[in-house]
Amino acid sequence: MLERDAAAPPVAYSAMVDDANTDAGAFWSTAAQDIAWIDEPQRPYAENQNGLVDWFPDATLNTAYNALDRHVDAGRGETTALAYVSAATGQEYEYSYAELLELVSAAAGALLGLGVGRGDRVLIYLPMIPEAVIAMLACARLGAVHAVVFGGFGSTELASRIDDARPSVIVTATGGLEPGRTVPYLPLLDAALIEAKHRPGHVVVVDRPEIEAPVGRRIEWPEHGWTELLSAAKPAGCVPVAATDPLYILYTSGTTGKPKGIVRDNGGHAVAMQWSMRYVYGIEAGDVVFAASDIGWVVGHSYIVYAPLLTGATTVLFEGKPVGTPDAGVFWDVIERYGVNVLLTAPTAMRAIRREDPDADLLIGRDMHTLRGIFLAGERLDPDTQRWLGEVQAAPVINNWWQTETGWPVVSNFLGLSYFRPKPGASTKPVPGFIVEILGRDRNPVEVGQEGAVCLQLPLPPGFMTQVWGDEDRLAKTYLNAYPGYYTSGDGGRVDEDGYVYILGRTDDVMNVAGHRMSSGQIEAAIAEHPGVSECAVVGVHDYLKGQRPYAIVVPEIDHVDRTVELSSQIQDLVRRQIGPIASLGGVEVVAALPKTRSGKIVRSCLRQILDGDEPDVPPTIENISVVDDLIRALTKTPDSPPS
Ligand code: COA
Ligand code: AMP
Repeated sequence: MLERDAAAPPVAYSAMVDDANTDAGAFWSTAAQDIAWIDEPQRPYAENQNGLVDWFPDATLNTAYNALDRHVDAGRGETTALAYVSAATGQEYEYSYAELLELVSAAAGALLGLGVGRGDRVLIYLPMIPEAVIAMLACARLGAVHAVVFGGFGSTELASRIDDARPSVIVTATGGLEPGRTVPYLPLLDAALIEAKHRPGHVVVVDRPEIEAPVGRRIEWPEHGWTELLSAAKPAGCVPVAATDPLYILYTSGTTGKPKGIVRDNGGHAVAMQWSMRYVYGIEAGDVVFAASDIGWVVGHSYIVYAPLLTGATTVLFEGKPVGTPDAGVFWDVIERYGVNVLLTAPTAMRAIRREDPDADLLIGRDMHTLRGIFLAGERLDPDTQRWLGEVQAAPVINNWWQTETGWPVVSNFLGLSYFRPKPGASTKPVPGFIVEILGRDRNPVEVGQEGAVCLQLPLPPGFMTQVWGDEDRLAKTYLNAYPGYYTSGDGGRVDEDGYVYILGRTDDVMNVAGHRMSSGQIEAAIAEHPGVSECAVVGVHDYLKGQRPYAIVVPEIDHVDRTVELSSQIQDLVRRQIGPIASLGGVEVVAALPKTRSGKIVRSCLRQILDGDEPDVPPTIENISVVDDLIRALTKTPDSPPS
């Protein structure tokens, strides 16, 4: 860990914003000089048919070279690249850049031996183990495209991603470890492959000693052990790829039941990752980054894997929970022992720690002097949790706003630029390169302080999504058409007189459950398969710990009207099995009818407001107003509140 020169003046934010806004091409071309290119970019960007821009369209590089070989070539092979801390098994080990390079080269050789080449997809369904990082980088080394699927998803979600990405190889493990139980992955994968139409050429399985592969599986695809495959493999070198070639697909929830495959390129991504490490997070080579997320989410892709390694920093890969593995002091313990400089996590994790250890007794006596900042993203940071965290420890608490689509923070405070006085509830200022506007229904910017749709002016900086995998029209339809000249984030918000941005929540049917993004449509599609369900709606209801929790409001078929208890528990099981345990319903409410507009659209906002204990804002287009009154009587509950 490097000690920071406290006397060094921070780079001025306003100068950086001016530079980025005056000539984005020149600004990002300068940032691109920090990347090792095979063919240097001559042109900063070119407009593409999607309505966005392709960054560095004539350049070539290899992302894995930049993340590993480059540091070894520069004599930094002995620096720790990856520190694996498993609170689940008690294992801890460190990989130097040289060791990680050796493993990634072997894994790339193994995939090459299975026929994986540039542009081929590899689906990675792994828990938080080093093999996950190795597999991702091995794909990057070959110019193959990885699609990582979060281990908490069930077989139907996995099947839909297999059919969409059409991987030639799937890399998985015998299972994951959740507190008090194991999660065997192979039965989930087998079920997904029965459901999916696409068949991978090969499946590679990491054998975890804690979880045995089930006996008697009937598989119709060649399956290989990870260790055997790697030990027999010839190390593979880096394949040059176009900067615009896809590096990965990462699925996220949209408003429909079908997940969107967000595509990220190689060149723009590498530039943005490294730039953000320095200027947003204040991280340089040799520093230590602890992103307590999962590699299945964008935080994991960007800040567990790519950004720290591209920078030459050490990344901590943590397998465990903020509480219960073994206690609410585990994050502080990792920070102290590894000399962590920045922690990134979701507010939910901090609320969970606070609930278990409200007086922060587990922080007493800890040496936390290396910690320069705690970055919280993925969901709303409530001012109460922000205040508590600021009181119990000394590092700045930074609320930053971004999305799977943006790939890196859009609004944040800064450790590598001017630091702004935080305001409760604000994510602070737009990151240089992003121009944030709040637009009204008339598509024009609203007055200062007014609420509206949070939009980003085009063109967007490097590192942003480049397309929706396999669906050329979906990008424009979902993100660009509503406000011409802008990317629409799907969040509502406002900007105050000091230019601070406040994110107020989703304006669509997307919810955030413990920092995990889910769509109403996705869960409704699973519930609709139950033969006893006539109609249903799923809404995100306020939950102190998880931010929101999905609730299902169900109209039963006539033959199920008297079997509501049984129906509720079957719906719970169905959702857990198909979508996964992370979508566990907070409740299932069986009702006689749902509120609808005259055109037959279910008014989910009314249901959400009623379940949150608020007065429902009934739209004038509602057809069956009496249903709303019935629902108010049936569903009103005491709102969920923080611990006193
Ligand atoms: N594989 C399999 N199952 C998983 C899983 C995974 N990777 N992650 C979660 N689950 C399961 C859990 O075991 C749980 O199952 P259960 O209902 O049978 O107990 C269920 O999904 C719900 O999990 P979760 O939402 O995580 O709730 P929890 O009560 O187990 O834990 C917290 C609560 C706050 C500790 C947990 O939500 C947490 O760590 N949050 C931090 C969020 C985060 O890092 N988000 C990433 C975005 S930055
Ligand atoms: P995801 O794509 O899973 O990272 O989820 C992105 C969504 O999480 C955003 O559209 C927001 O709704 C929400 N979100 C992320 N960060 C914040 C934040 N700092 N404050 C409020 N909401 C946030």
